[in-house]
Amino acid sequence: MLLNFGKYPVVIASSPEMARQFLRVHDSNFASRPALAAGKHIAYNYMDSLWAPYGPHLRQARKIYHSEVFSANRLEEFEPVRAEERRNFLSHLGSLSGKPVLLRAHLSRYTLSSISRVAISNKYFSETEHENSVLELEELQRMLDEWFYLAGAFNIGDWIPWLDFLDLQGYVKRMKHLHKKFDRFNDYVIDDHQARRSEKDFKPKDIADILLGLAEDPNLEVKLTRDSIKALLQDLLLGGSDTTTTTVEWAIHEVLRHPHVMEKAKEELNRVIGRKRWIEENDLPHLPYIDAIIMETFRLHPQATLMAPHCAIEDCNVVGYEIPKGTIVMINAWSIGRNPELWDSPEEFVPERFVGKEIDMFGSNFALFPFGSGRRRCPGYNLGLKIVQSTLANLLHGFDLRLVEGMKVEDVCTEEEYGLTTHPKHSLSIIMIPTLPSHLY
Ligand code: HEM
Repeated sequence: MLLNFGKYPVVIASSPEMARQFLRVHDSNFASRPALAAGKHIAYNYMDSLWAPYGPHLRQARKIYHSEVFSANRLEEFEPVRAEERRNFLSHLGSLSGKPVLLRAHLSRYTLSSISRVAISNKYFSETEHENSVLELEELQRMLDEWFYLAGAFNIGDWIPWLDFLDLQGYVKRMKHLHKKFDRFNDYVIDDHQARRSEKDFKPKDIADILLGLAEDPNLEVKLTRDSIKALLQDLLLGGSDTTTTTVEWAIHEVLRHPHVMEKAKEELNRVIGRKRWIEENDLPHLPYIDAIIMETFRLHPQATLMAPHCAIEDCNVVGYEIPKGTIVMINAWSIGRNPELWDSPEEFVPERFVGKEIDMFGSNFALFPFGSGRRRCPGYNLGLKIVQSTLANLLHGFDLRLVEGMKVEDVCTEEEYGLTTHPKHSLSIIMIPTLPSHLY
């Protein structure tokens, strides 16, 4: 579908074949992003990787992510950190036994804590005011939510440039305000890391240390500036927390709506893991039904309903259509996931459709590609998937999940709230009763 939306022509690709055309066949031409206000005001003038135009800075950033952040060795090195954070999260939920628990709030705190320990270490924010912390966790969470909201908002000035200066919806003002808060936080983190570098016996212990080390490398193709380091670290906190939280949240909503799915998942976990321990990351390849639940969640509730916007670098002919330079391309993952020509009973949550099937989710199958495909594919997909799988499996294994009194299965929300990512419109309070031996919590 081709639309003319003010300044930009927009193409919406709603079939696997068109997604393949843009993300595989013509990937190199559609690997850029439009220069929207969000990238300018809340991503250090397009210096992060999400909003960066395609070019040497982005290629280098992705290379650094690939080799220094998400490589198999790095993921293994930080596995104990993830395990510790997961145990803390599960123990905390255990201590809330019988009380209504707003699951999203706890999930967000845990995923943010897991990713930030790896990216910047964990001392800069805390649940309450703390000697070393610059922010309270709740405030940081509000900033991340505001970031996702503004990054996905339809800002009129982006599309009708002569109205830009009026900032009719007030979004640019909010972006500038948010940027100031993030920048203060990021500055503090960088200064503190830089001070540590001069200490005797200094050893890099997180991604911020690694990036600051790379900034001193004279052979880098594009110099890593202070702003680009701040932007890349911010990307990790943002990319790593909201997506994983929301995927687990949707999966729990669906499992609660489908008690037989919950039973089958628990049966698999009891058979493979037993009742005497939690699930570790190396158990995950042996849990095909948990995997099927996650794939079905990605199909019905893709995190990025329209992916992040892609942008044509040059004029290009795609299956006979002339697409001019600068056209914005949106890939409609939501409608591909619900297309009756691709999926039986597409509106129903049926994990069984994936059981026993070899399905690639990482960009070669254009019916299900939750992490995108091609040059802009999510660089954190392997970390994201580990967090989602291990969190969901342990929640189902270690707790009896019940709806609060008076709530019926059909009351569990499936309505969506759109932003750059798509959340359930109403977060769910549930009762969580621990079911494993008490010393495990
Ligand atoms: C369930 C987990 C996740 C899902 C579903 C997901 C999904 C996505 C999607 C759909 C995109 C856009 C692809 C496109 O434009 O074609 C993306 C980009 C990105 N993701 Fe993820 N993601 C997840 C986890 C993570 C994690 C854990 C991180 C980092 C810690 C991360 C960092 C990023 C970054 C930096 C980009 C921008 C890449 C670029 O534009 O070149 N994501 N992700």
